[in-house]
Amino acid sequence: MVARIIVIMSRKGGVGKTTVSANLASALATKKSRVLLIDANMETSHIAVHYGLDDYEMALQDVLNGIVQVDRAIYHTRYGLDILPSRVFRKKGDKAANYQLINLFFHIGRVVNSYDFVIIDTRPATDIDFIRLIPNAEIVVVVNPDLTSLLEAKELAKELRENAIKLLGIIVNRSNRRKQKLAENAVLSMGGDVIGTISEDDKLTDALNSGMPVTHLNSRSRASKEFLKLADTIRRGI
Ligand SMILES: Nc1ncnc2c1ncn2[C@@H]1O[C@H](COP(=O)(O)OP(=O)(O)OP(=O)(O)O)[C@@H](O)[C@H]1O
Ligand SMILES: [Mg+2]
Repeated sequence: MVARIIVIMSRKGGVGKTTVSANLASALATKKSRVLLIDANMETSHIAVHYGLDDYEMALQDVLNGIVQVDRAIYHTRYGLDILPSRVFRKKGDKAANYQLINLFFHIGRVVNSYDFVIIDTRPATDIDFIRLIPNAEIVVVVNPDLTSLLEAKELAKELRENAIKLLGIIVNRSNRRKQKLAENAVLSMGGDVIGTISEDDKLTDALNSGMPVTHLNSRSRASKEFLKLADTIRRGI
């Protein structure tokens, strides 16, 4: 089996990439997919926080710096998925690891096919160069239903197109009924599809504060149902 590698991106910061990465990964695992969640945001790394993971010794920075093999920095969680975290607190050499992101696939290549999905969270406005070296990477762009976020997404979609990188689709996060139409029209104009909508939901903040995915903290919440639906859409291949 060849893993599907899904990279969660946005040019604008704070739109919900990490929230989507963390909760989509758990929704996929709930559906019995084998999932590796990678935190490739080495500036403001929060995947570990979403999973209450605080006692990890090795991180993506150590893998990219060639200090350990990737297996040593992968942690199993009680939610049925594995995590390759980045470090929140800096060690010597962590800054240099940023420049090694281009080699990500070289380091993770030998483990990816033990999974059905590899979900990669990124920092805002990540250079797309590292994606070119990931075979068959599929990009998911996260937007909020506001003009600046949508304009930035349009630019990113254009850049992906120019580099022949596959845009799987767009997720509208922090949506509400009034703003949804604005977002959908904007997405159409950028030549993409809305593959999921996540509402503004305090349960997502509760989940983050509890260090648990929302699908486990509050499985009946609106956000949980939306993430499970999104997982189905992605598993179908759209
Ligand atoms: N649908 C939502 N409903 C309520 N709160 C949300 C929602 N999505 C995200 N948030 C909150 O918004 C904040 C920013 O989200 P998040 O960290 O996922 O953004 P990001 O795009 O990863 O940011 P960065 O660009 O810094 O990496 C977090 O506090 C998160 O809990
Ligand atoms: Mg983030």
